[in-house]
Amino acid sequence: MTISQMHRSQFRTVLLEGIHQTAIDAFGEAGWPVSAQPGALVGDALAEAIADAEFVGIRSRTRLTREVLERAPKLVGIGAFCIGTNQIDLDFAAKRGIPVFNAPFSNTRSVAELVIAEIIMLMRGIPEKNAVLHRGGWTKSAANSWEIRGKTLGIIGYGHIGTQVGVLAEQLGMNVVFQDIEAKLALGNARAFATLDELLAVSDVVSLHVPETPQTANLFGARRIAMMKPGSFLINASRGNVVDIDALAEALESKRVLGAAIDVFPVEPKSNDDVFTSPLTRFENVLLTPHIGGSTAEAQENIGREVAAKLIRYGNNGSTVSAVNFPEVSLPAHVGQCRIMHIHHNVPGMLAKINERFSEAGINIATEYLQTTKDIGYVVIDVDAQASRVAVDELAAIEGTIRCRVLC
Ligand code: NAI
Repeated sequence: MTISQMHRSQFRTVLLEGIHQTAIDAFGEAGWPVSAQPGALVGDALAEAIADAEFVGIRSRTRLTREVLERAPKLVGIGAFCIGTNQIDLDFAAKRGIPVFNAPFSNTRSVAELVIAEIIMLMRGIPEKNAVLHRGGWTKSAANSWEIRGKTLGIIGYGHIGTQVGVLAEQLGMNVVFQDIEAKLALGNARAFATLDELLAVSDVVSLHVPETPQTANLFGARRIAMMKPGSFLINASRGNVVDIDALAEALESKRVLGAAIDVFPVEPKSNDDVFTSPLTRFENVLLTPHIGGSTAEAQENIGREVAAKLIRYGNNGSTVSAVNFPEVSLPAHVGQCRIMHIHHNVPGMLAKINERFSEAGINIATEYLQTTKDIGYVVIDVDAQASRVAVDELAAIEGTIRCRVLC
């Protein structure tokens, strides 16, 4: 169990992997001392770098395993300045009372813009025309070349990216239809379709924006592709295993699908030095991009800002909204009071014990918040400043306490 009494300027923050300047600036403005390094660290170098840190920020290459986390006893919070968090032992971090924050939606707009550009490129046959000219040819023709205005875009997965794509496409005059497994509010004039098959029957372009789940694996196999409108186009900037690439190759061969734009693949090279192979490389009417849908300067800036803001808010206020491994609590400011944050194993009767202790000690609780996950409970209590020391001692003595933190 850890008890820490903190003032707001004291959170030592270590940033690895060249995290964007927007994050460094945000921590600086918050008065947090930051040490930033350009590269990823491993082994002892990593453990030493974060041994005294209260907050650590990483991207996808630093692995915060149980062994590494055990060597960082002061850690209060972790920022994954990226989308994925599987480089972090989330369960162990939670059991140590450490919330992990990421930036799942910072690159939504970047993906949506790429998809819009691809719709136009595909419907004008630009990929193959571009290839021909690069070889010294000239194919001036209006055949198989259309405006996107008035055409129907079918969006599968109407979440953050799907909705943005829909809004932008509609502004360009497209009719937007979508299908989602959840009931979703249709934006603009978009229309929800109950089944995928209905949507495929009317869509001139189909764009996939679903997550990777057991249900979406090979969602677009031979059967679904065969249900697409003859001469339509397919875009996948979601996850690599959503489309059966061999089935798509056959549909391109037969010209049932007139073109495709694929940003994600079932197997992707691990680094820029590795070779990319795919049955799709032989098709000039297929736009292939190396999983860069979300890779823009703006997305990096947004990620820096978004994750830094979440860490600062947690450090200075206790809010855990959008933590990926932790009970989520949204907290107002605690002006004129001390805020005690008590993280505990989620066992029955914990809140009763806390309230009992406070009542026996004569401590008045100004406000109290509780959220739990299966394993972890997070109670935030605002008390008068003079009662805070006693309150912390009372809380720390409760069995099952993982960590207790005070902000005055
Ligand atoms: P999101 O979670 O906001 O939206 C996903 C939507 O798909 C949800 O509305 C969900 O209900 C729906 N859905 C889930 N299973 C479905 C199914 N079987 N059929 C129909 N709808 C289903 O996710 P977001 O942020 O829009 O991301 C979408 C995809 O884009 C994800 O796979 C993500 O990994 C990927 N992505 C790709 C990037 C790139 O660089 N190409 C960058 C960012 C995200």
